[in-house]
Amino acid sequence: MASLPLSDLSLFPATPDQVLESRRRHAPTWHKALSVEEYLLRDEIMDKYEHARDKKLTTWVLAPRVDPTTLNFMCSCEIFRRTAAMASPSDQSTAKQVIACGIASVFTPAEKRKKGYGHHMMRLLHWVLAPRSALPDFPEAWGSPPDVPAALGLQSAQFSVLYSDIGKNFYRYSGPTADQGNGWLENGSIETSLHADKAFADTTSSDPTTAPHIWLSEHDVKHVWSLDTPLMRADLAKEAASTGRTAFSFLPNIGVGASVIHRSMSFASDKTPVLPLDMWGVLLLPNSVIGVDEVFADPSRQVTYATWTLDSLNEAQRVLVTTRVRASQGTLPALLEVLVKFARKENIQKIEIWGLPETLRITAGEFGWETSNRTDHLSAFKWYGKESEDEVTWLFNEK
Ligand SMILES: CC(C)(COP(=O)(O)OP(=O)(O)OC[C@H]1O[C@@H](n2cnc3c(N)ncnc32)[C@H](O)[C@@H]1OP(=O)(O)O)[C@@H](O)C(=O)NCCC(=O)NCCS
Repeated sequence: MASLPLSDLSLFPATPDQVLESRRRHAPTWHKALSVEEYLLRDEIMDKYEHARDKKLTTWVLAPRVDPTTLNFMCSCEIFRRTAAMASPSDQSTAKQVIACGIASVFTPAEKRKKGYGHHMMRLLHWVLAPRSALPDFPEAWGSPPDVPAALGLQSAQFSVLYSDIGKNFYRYSGPTADQGNGWLENGSIETSLHADKAFADTTSSDPTTAPHIWLSEHDVKHVWSLDTPLMRADLAKEAASTGRTAFSFLPNIGVGASVIHRSMSFASDKTPVLPLDMWGVLLLPNSVIGVDEVFADPSRQVTYATWTLDSLNEAQRVLVTTRVRASQGTLPALLEVLVKFARKENIQKIEIWGLPETLRITAGEFGWETSNRTDHLSAFKWYGKESEDEVTWLFNEK
């Protein structure tokens, strides 16, 4: 166990030197196809992007209370503060805006592992994320709760979310008190995928007849997300009204969706960032309609589109992972067909769609796509509202 009593430790917002130290520590584990230097450069570049700037991204360190700025801190993680949406069954037409947080880069250096630091950091994190009114009494044995500077806009989250690469128990066991089992609940970690095998080849014959569509640049994709956000909010309200359960989701605007594109950057020899693709989405065009705005203008029209990122740092294969899919059972087959067409053109070996609704999974299955539980990137949430976690539904649980 920890050589220091838990009450001697607390969670602190990292100083700039601690942020760099934290990134240096996890670079060797997560740099993949980037060099360590490029990994650090990518983070530095991305700090200035919309999803992170204005203190939306903060690094936190578990450190001794007597020496909170030490570079010899125990472990660290990142919080992304985001605008999200939730709808209660009583909400009439649309969802309301809430604050919610994403957690990333949970890391303890090898020599400090298995001393309980990681668990304690995650347990204290709830006290940084959630309003005090949503939490039980702070455990006496832990000393006093973390100090959270008001300027960070934290202690206000309706929920928080993370993607676990270490199974579901570690985060589930990390609740806001010493009681095990009140932490993040694994939920909806499914993917519907197609591999670059014969299934891809079969579809080429139908290339000339693919449904009318336009490819979306990064700029177009952001525009499409801004148009889709009101539809997503309305969908949340519809879900809540029809099921009697509270529905919640992150939203792809305000740089959130774009950040997943930017993370796929690599670097030219002069260290200029280079993205692996030019196109990041596709929108199907109903007959007689020509532009993106027209597709969204008529509320009675089914909008069908997909946006994506490339897991290009995966050295074994190029994997396209969708970040947002909107389709009906009727329009999904045409969308899948253009996705496959794109994958073939870009030498992509696998397409993954995360969190596809059940009816659409069945439709995709008819075209050879397979749905399975993910073994990595397990999505998990912690709900800080008055509802129990059995009374809430996470919608649009996509990448
Ligand atoms: C996961 C990690 C943060 C845990 O930190 P820690 O300070 O050692 O955590 P604790 O001492 O509180 O708990 C250790 C427990 O973590 C869990 N754990 C650690 N690595 C794990 C893994 N790869 N798979 C499943 N559980 C794991 C185990 O339950 C372990 O318990 P054990 O001692 O019975 O084996 C640390 O191992 C780490 O940084 N790993 C590399 C980076 C990483 O995978 N981060 C998580 C990304 S989602």
